[in-house]
Amino acid sequence: MLILNAHFLALFIMAPAVTSKLLIDRFGRTVDYLRISITDRCDFRCVYCMAEDMTFLPREQVLSLEEIHTLAKAFVELGVKKIRITGGEPLVRKGALELLTNIGRIDGLQELVITTNGSQLETMARDLKAAGVKRINISLDTLEDDKFKEITRTGNLQQVLRGIQAAKLAGFERIKINAVVLKNKNHQEVCNLVQYAVDNGLDISFIEEMPLGIVDQHDRSSAYYSSDLIKQDLAQQFSLVASLEKTGGPSNYFKVKGTASRVGFISPHSDNFCSTCNRVRLTVEGRLLLCLGNEHSVDLKAVLRTHPNNIESLKQAIIDAMLIKPEKHEFNVHEQPVILRYMNMTGG
Ligand code: GTP
Ligand code: 5AD
Ligand code: SF4
Repeated sequence: MLILNAHFLALFIMAPAVTSKLLIDRFGRTVDYLRISITDRCDFRCVYCMAEDMTFLPREQVLSLEEIHTLAKAFVELGVKKIRITGGEPLVRKGALELLTNIGRIDGLQELVITTNGSQLETMARDLKAAGVKRINISLDTLEDDKFKEITRTGNLQQVLRGIQAAKLAGFERIKINAVVLKNKNHQEVCNLVQYAVDNGLDISFIEEMPLGIVDQHDRSSAYYSSDLIKQDLAQQFSLVASLEKTGGPSNYFKVKGTASRVGFISPHSDNFCSTCNRVRLTVEGRLLLCLGNEHSVDLKAVLRTHPNNIESLKQAIIDAMLIKPEKHEFNVHEQPVILRYMNMTGG
């Protein structure tokens, strides 16, 4: 009974939000962060993200650059302040720079940021900065060439390291390394990775692997390595001081004492952060995903193509979608994944 009342109340509270055109869900969470995957393609095949043999989407199913821009504009008009461009690998999409420049110019957007595997940064970092990208997150799970090849299957560590140097030179506000930690694969390297971040004036986030899609190279249950274990490992070499700083993402940050670097922990299993969720995702098929760990979604491509040039119907569909945003993800590394969609569809 109490639950019913609470739901009724939540729906009732929703009503003014619609008129004030802000995105607020049934649990009172304001959505002001949109992650847009601009391609499902990638030049790497990371073992935690994809199967080795992937089929990517045919072109006609994919949003055009203009459609992505229109969608981004609709979200900003609804109060979104931060847009993160993801993939697959976003920088392999033709026209990515032009799209970024256009999104960066949308009135009211406060932060345009990107998550990349770093493979294209050596040539693109300066242009990204010029396009208005403020911060950049780069995946880097290991500093050993062979292991890098093992984890990414097709990637080249030295190329990514050169990319990181190019990003430093380009002068982004902050650069963050993302490392997915797998037991007995790269967990032994967490201190080296923090030392690399410190030496280069970068932040770093350690991520607990999430079970999206069926992967064939490792057993996710035995590869699980919790954030607490990483903290214990780091304590042997570094002094971490808890920090209240947030970037609008799920990382809990600690300062590395005596340095400019922060170490973040993204702990979907050991420290659920869903109660403060402020984000939704747009796939390159135009599907608005209300949660990374659930399939609740709305087909915005259909709305866009049925009512071209009518941003108001798009905005209404986005507002309505907030009613189906789930309370939390239900990840369980010890069972077969419930979500069959691979991470490259959403960029994390
Ligand atoms: P900042 O803006 O720097 O805070 O970025 P971010 O950490 O939000 O984004 P990034 O693309 O670097 O993502 C890092 C990791 O966080 C990826 O593994 C994402 O899958 C994960 N992540 C981001 N948002 C969510 C979320 O809502 N739920 C879950 N379970 N994981 C998330
Ligand atoms: N679990 C956790 N993080 C993942 N990423 C890709 N797949 C997974 C997964 N299954 C990370 C990438 C990238 C970020 C966007 O998501 O390493 O840094
Ligand atoms: Fe590509 Fe990123 Fe997936 Fe690796 S994690 S395969 S770099 S999309």
